[in-house]
Amino acid sequence: MMTGNEIRESYLKFFESKGHKILPSASLIPTNDPSILWTAAGMVPFKPFFTGAAKPDYTRVTTCQKCIRTPDIESVGRTARHHTFFEMLGNFSFGDYFKEKAIPWAWEYVTEHLKIPAEKLWVTIYLDDDEAFSIWNKVVGVPSERIVRMDKDTNFWEIGVGPCGPCSELYVDLGAERGCASPECGVGCDCDRYLEIWNLVFIQFFKDEEGNYSPLASKGIDTGFGLERVASVLQGVPSNFETDLLREIMDFTAGLFGLKYGADEKVDVALKVIADHCRAITFAITDGALPSNEGRGYVIRRLLRRAVRFGRLMGGEPGTCAQSYLD
Ligand code: ALA
Repeated sequence: MMTGNEIRESYLKFFESKGHKILPSASLIPTNDPSILWTAAGMVPFKPFFTGAAKPDYTRVTTCQKCIRTPDIESVGRTARHHTFFEMLGNFSFGDYFKEKAIPWAWEYVTEHLKIPAEKLWVTIYLDDDEAFSIWNKVVGVPSERIVRMDKDTNFWEIGVGPCGPCSELYVDLGAERGCASPECGVGCDCDRYLEIWNLVFIQFFKDEEGNYSPLASKGIDTGFGLERVASVLQGVPSNFETDLLREIMDFTAGLFGLKYGADEKVDVALKVIADHCRAITFAITDGALPSNEGRGYVIRRLLRRAVRFGRLMGGEPGTCAQSYLD
């Protein structure tokens, strides 16, 4: 079984062996990018390298980026896989390689290094991306019935103003027992059966403030590999929260309340929300954001309030959260 730390290191080393420079995570507070509040993806610090506005020192880079994303906040704790704070591993090409390398490398890493069985893997591609289809099918050998064409809603990646493009995702089928049992259940279903673990973005457009797309002078690769999700698959646990990356935080919090994780579903949801929000708040404040009434600060305040509310639901006295910091 690989620990979260081992997966992180193995990913970075794999891409180092493919000529990538390992760089540290950037701050959660984006630099010179008023179009977004948080670093919500590994590619955010590299936008100027994709557009050609700045020249990178390396054309192949790999990172493990701290990310905050809040649109799914209501799902946190209720699904196995949603977070407001998570770690995104990624490999990036700034005008260097494109699909022909990014796709086979993703397959090689997942099947040969992580040893996830090929027959559990599914792939999505953007509607008309026949080039990606052909690489997955002819070069990698994924059967055509396990390559699903999806529309712009799911298979086109963009974040604020800047570089963007169609994408291709890798899913693990966790088995029918994890699914919703609906006859329509399949890749892309909201239930926990098909877990997206990797998004490969084929950067080739620039999106401006008005929402217009124009082709970039050179193409690039941006990928996002979810550390907590992959850890849940490799550690054979039912959710990200039971991995070694989060379980200890939940057990610690449960101890403060004199409770145990796994005894009561409502308590479990609260423990997950608190574990997630405490990580987000801790890393955000460490990177220089502070609670306030607007923008980033308001997000922190909201996360704090939610964590306290869920603590009260578990019967916590005022001050319990503060106590967990002091301890
Ligand atoms: N930027 C892409 C994502 O976050 C990889 O999914």
